[in-house]
Amino acid sequence: MKILLFGRSGQLGSEIVPRAEKLHFDVVSPVLSELDITDEQGVESFVAQVKPDIILNCAAYTAVDDAEEDRPGAFSVNASAPRYLAQAAKKSGTRLIHLSTDYVFDGSAKEPYTEESPTLPINVYGESKLAGEQGILEVLGDSATIVRTSSLHGQHGANFVHTMLELFALKETLSVVTDQIMSPTWAGWLAGVLLDLCRIKEGGIYHACSGGAVSWFDFAQEILRLADGDFSVELEPVPASTFPRPAARPAYSVMSCDKLTKLLGRAPLSWNDGLQRHLRDIKRLKGE
Ligand SMILES: NC(=O)c1ccc[n+]([C@@H]2O[C@H](COP(=O)([O-])OP(=O)(O)OC[C@H]3O[C@@H](n4cnc5c(N)ncnc54)[C@H](OP(=O)(O)O)[C@@H]3O)[C@@H](O)[C@H]2O)c1
Repeated sequence: MKILLFGRSGQLGSEIVPRAEKLHFDVVSPVLSELDITDEQGVESFVAQVKPDIILNCAAYTAVDDAEEDRPGAFSVNASAPRYLAQAAKKSGTRLIHLSTDYVFDGSAKEPYTEESPTLPINVYGESKLAGEQGILEVLGDSATIVRTSSLHGQHGANFVHTMLELFALKETLSVVTDQIMSPTWAGWLAGVLLDLCRIKEGGIYHACSGGAVSWFDFAQEILRLADGDFSVELEPVPASTFPRPAARPAYSVMSCDKLTKLLGRAPLSWNDGLQRHLRDIKRLKGE
């Protein structure tokens, strides 16, 4: 099976490539300098030339705060480009699997969001990602697969786990937010799920995030407990209002993965197990 993967240098894409190769998928994965997915004509001819069985789109504009000042940039990559991918997929009879986000929700819920919950993004990034979903559904309907995930962390790129490990080594006290609840998701687990979805011809929207929910503060505490470094840092719980940021974040962005669980026949990895797997990868890379 031939996969055309966009976003291979990103946090998620870089976890997919080695796993896909191990499973004997034929992976074609141009980087941004080889193909900019905001180039409608370029996308169409690339897809026509490669003739993939599946387009897997992990490319995105993910700078949530920058997006507030760069609405055209965010919409170009997160809304227009997915539509171009959908059009090219339709023309060539290719399946499309596209990544989206928990930030399509406003965070006012008190229980996990389902795929049917009303969307209402509260920042430009979320608006642009929702527009991307809508564009794909307009072109391909339910034959497209849209996978919403949450708070990714993995061994490649900047993420909360890496930031905490750096700060634990530098700080005596560290303030971490308590009033934002989410499901931190290990990119390695999600990469495996996406490759399973490549083999299952089911379209529609699916939530795919870790099992369980946690605040950033509790997540940081668990990172500190498991990291077994020589840290003397004290964590201080603070409200999000302590750190004003350009983009608002949902206070609660936990998603139900029941639909995915039914499809795959297994429950998601818990956030805690995902964290342990990530920390193991870090140790392995350090040769410890
Ligand atoms: N990170 C999270 O916490 C999170 C949470 C929920 C959902 N998601 C979604 O999950 C997906 C993967 O996220 P991620 O964290 O892996 O993102 P990431 O690390 O920021 O990677 C984004 C990738 O997109 C590529 N890209 C950006 N603009 C492009 C363009 N115009 N043409 C071609 N490629 C382009 C980047 O290439 P360069 O490296 O060359 O710039 C990079 O490879 C995205 O759809 C994101 O919205 C992420």
